[in-house]
Amino acid sequence: MSASGGSMWPLRFIILGCFLPITLSNEAKESPSIGIVGGGIGGTSTAYFLRQLFGDDAKIDIFEKRQVGGRLATISIGNQQFEAGGAVIHPKNMYMVNFTKLLGLEHVNGDMGSFGIFDGSSMRITSNKYRVVTLAKLFWRYGMDIYNIDNWINEKLLAKFMRIYDIQRAGHAYTTVPDLIGAMDSAFLSYMKKSIKFVMRTAGFGDAFIDEMVMGALRTNYGQSTEIPGFVGAVSLAGVQPGLWAVKGGNKQVPEKLVTEAKAQVIQGTVMSVQLLQYQDKTYRVEYVDAEKKEQHRDYDIVIIATPLHDEMSDIDFEDFPSPIENFPQHYHKLTSTFVDGTPNSKYFGVDNPEDLSEEILTCNDTILVNSCGKKTDVLGSPAQVYKVFSNSPPKEDDIKQMFTSKKDIRMFSMMAYPDYSTVGEELPPFVLHDQLYYVNAIELAASAMEMSSIAGKNVALLAYNHWHGSLEKIDEPYADSTSETEKTEL
Ligand SMILES: Cc1cc2nc3c(=O)[nH]c(=O)nc-3n(C[C@H](O)[C@H](O)[C@H](O)COP(=O)(O)OP(=O)(O)OC[C@H]3O[C@@H](n4cnc5c(N)ncnc54)[C@H](O)[C@@H]3O)c2cc1C
Ligand SMILES: *[C@@H]1O[C@H](CO)[C@@H](O)[C@H](O)[C@H]1NC(C)=O
Ligand SMILES: *[C@@H]1O[C@H](CO)[C@@H](O)[C@H](O)[C@H]1NC(C)=O
Repeated sequence: MSASGGSMWPLRFIILGCFLPITLSNEAKESPSIGIVGGGIGGTSTAYFLRQLFGDDAKIDIFEKRQVGGRLATISIGNQQFEAGGAVIHPKNMYMVNFTKLLGLEHVNGDMGSFGIFDGSSMRITSNKYRVVTLAKLFWRYGMDIYNIDNWINEKLLAKFMRIYDIQRAGHAYTTVPDLIGAMDSAFLSYMKKSIKFVMRTAGFGDAFIDEMVMGALRTNYGQSTEIPGFVGAVSLAGVQPGLWAVKGGNKQVPEKLVTEAKAQVIQGTVMSVQLLQYQDKTYRVEYVDAEKKEQHRDYDIVIIATPLHDEMSDIDFEDFPSPIENFPQHYHKLTSTFVDGTPNSKYFGVDNPEDLSEEILTCNDTILVNSCGKKTDVLGSPAQVYKVFSNSPPKEDDIKQMFTSKKDIRMFSMMAYPDYSTVGEELPPFVLHDQLYYVNAIELAASAMEMSSIAGKNVALLAYNHWHGSLEKIDEPYADSTSETEKTEL
């Protein structure tokens, strides 16, 4: 007995010897040091949620090569400013709503004014200043679809989508995008694989409605067609529901103020590589070129990538990983935004009388240059004579001349705006690239929007926290909604 008992000691010692340092390292250093690459809404919301979870002692750095805000930015024309990237927010986007409130910011109205849908030669439909007349016109053209759409978006999409807030409040996190989206509603998984056209036809919507209204929404929101997946298509449709808003003074204030709220330090610099360290105290080394063009590095326990990892978007190297981490194969969609302070030529949009031209012109024909052309209010909500034109290629000087009868000022810029959803395919990037290395922008391949980045930010913060504390029961486990369970048993 004593011999076998004695022989236990070395074994236990070995086991303790193996595991103790790891357990100790996370318990003694309760608070990790975290480096976040990218200061857009994705990176800054992640920083905010990490601070909430890990408390005051965690060290949180955000690397930003240009400006905090990223694709949330404003452009000035005359003495007014306009949203240049992410523009409108849905009233049920709870993280964006709550951030705005928490940060002491206000809302301005983001709904579109009068609208029309242009097919390349004439307007298929235009709204009227009297709501009843507009409804009658819409009913005449699209029948019951015009009533069913609100119900479909609210009941079949938004109500399910909003389950994510309960799931995340309960601390649940997912390592893949399909697991996260599928946790909202399993039907969303098939919406990610089928086109919005197919999904809506199956739900009973007619072709006229899909080819005009839905196409118009997709072209203005993503510069793409009804062939894109149903999930992002649905997010896009919610983006033309009533009640839309923007942050007074510019949406970029949300990421800017989240940095302060998260007590994060912004490091101005371009991250060149993330290196997996061996036999060292910290897990990762982030190498970057600082504002003075000097090469620097900092070491972290946890690293979070909050910028898209695709060719033409990123050249961050991942070094010394056992299996290589490379850019993901999908491509981003190049969009040109042209801001014109001037007067549009109604005839260009098939309208004889300039007074009859709609403020927001959507288009339903993917062979024409213009995705949409809308009269914008400035970031304070004040009226302006400024039009924002989206197109998939830069308009030529002659195009602008035909489009506008007069112009005082014009600004044009192109950017890789969001994924080209025709390149997404079946294999999506994961939220976890390696132990304690996370990737927020995986979410964009399901749908790119401010709220999606915030949801992914919370998911990644929860993954990092749950992994750090070994709470594996909250990772990739189905979330049992206690309220719906009791409802079921009562039934
Ligand atoms: C024209 C346009 C209109 C849109 N309209 C809407 C809308 O109406 N509503 C809506 O909800 N969404 C809209 N979106 C989408 C929304 O803007 C994006 O989904 C969201 O802003 C993405 O945020 P992000 O933080 O994930 O990425 P980004 O904002 O791109 O942030 C990434 C940051 O990382 C930085 N970075 C990159 N590489 C490095 C590096 N190596 N080192 C250091 N820093 C680096 C970048 O400079 C950038 O600031 C729109 C987008 C565009 C382009
Ligand atoms: C799309 O626009 C082109 C060019 O203006 C036109 O020739 C074509 O008929 C239009 N298609 C539809 C479906 O309206
Ligand atoms: C938003 O804030 C309200 C009020 O503080 C809170 O009850 C709610 O849970 C928050 N929602 C989310 C998604 O965090």
